[in-house]
Amino acid sequence: MPTDTEDLVSRLRNARTVVALTGAGVSSASGIPTFRGDDGLWKQYRAEDLATPEAFAHDPKLVWEWYDWRRATIAAAQPNAAHAVLAKWSQRPGFTLITQNVDGLHERAGTNNVIRFHGSIWELRCAAECGAAPWDDHTAPMATLPPMCPSCGGIARPGIVWFGENIDPDVLERASAAAAAADVFLSIGTSSLVFPAAGLLHHAKRNGAFTVEINPGATDVSRVVDLPIAAPAEDALGMLDARVRMG
Ligand code: OAD
Repeated sequence: MPTDTEDLVSRLRNARTVVALTGAGVSSASGIPTFRGDDGLWKQYRAEDLATPEAFAHDPKLVWEWYDWRRATIAAAQPNAAHAVLAKWSQRPGFTLITQNVDGLHERAGTNNVIRFHGSIWELRCAAECGAAPWDDHTAPMATLPPMCPSCGGIARPGIVWFGENIDPDVLERASAAAAAADVFLSIGTSSLVFPAAGLLHHAKRNGAFTVEINPGATDVSRVVDLPIAAPAEDALGMLDARVRMG
C-alpha cells in the first residue's frame, strides 16, 4: 500500500471527526445511473426539462413519470459495499455522512444521521405549500401520476432540491458546521460540480481538514485535495476499512 494511503489509514484511526460527502458514484455499483457519466442521466435527458420548478409547473405529469421510473429503478437496487462501509463508520462518534443522493441507499444500508443535502426521492410534499407536513411514500410504481396532497387534494411534488432552488437552511447549516469541524473530509463519488455541495470540501480544507477524493475519474477537486484516490468507492472504501480495522 502506498505511504500516502497508510497516512490516511492512520488519520482515519485517530480522527475525532470524519465527514464523508457522497454523490451518485457511490450508488453506481448498485446499478443506479450517475448524472454526468458516459451513461449519465444528464446525457440522455435535459435537467431543465425534468429537475427545475419551471419544468414541474409546465408539465408535472412528465416530471413525475421520470421520478416514478427512477423510484422503480432504485427500489429494485441494493446498497453496495461502499454503502456498507460508510454505514459501519457511521456507528462511530464524530462521523457525519452528507449525501447529495436522493436514493435512500445510505439509510437502507443502516447509516446513522444522514444529512440529505438534496432531499429524498421517497419524500413528497404539497406543491402548493398548503401547510401539510412532508410525507414518506415508498410505492413504486405510483398508483396515479401526479400523486396528490392528502390534505388539500392539490398536486404533490418530490421532496428534492431542484436546480434553481435553495438548500434547506438547517441542512446547509448542519453540513457546513460538520465540514468546518472535520479532521478528515472524504469526497466520494461526486463530480464536485454542483454548488453549494461542492463548496463543503473547500470549507473543510480552509478549516484545517485533511481532504481526500475517492473517484475513478478526475474532477475539479482532484488537484485540490491532499489525497486523490483514483478508484471506485466500493473498492477503495473496502480496502480502507480493512486497513483501519487491522490496527
Ligand atoms: P455526477 O453524475 O455529477 O458525478 C458522479 C461522479 O461519480 C463522477 O465524477 C464519476 O467519475 C464518479 N463515479 C462513477 N462511478 C464511481 C464509483 N464506482 N465510485 C466512485 N465514484 C464513481 O453526480 P453528483 O456529483 O452526485 O442533483 O451530482 C451532483 C448533483 O447533480 C446530484 O445530487 C443531482 C445532480 O443533478 C439532485 O438530484 C438535486
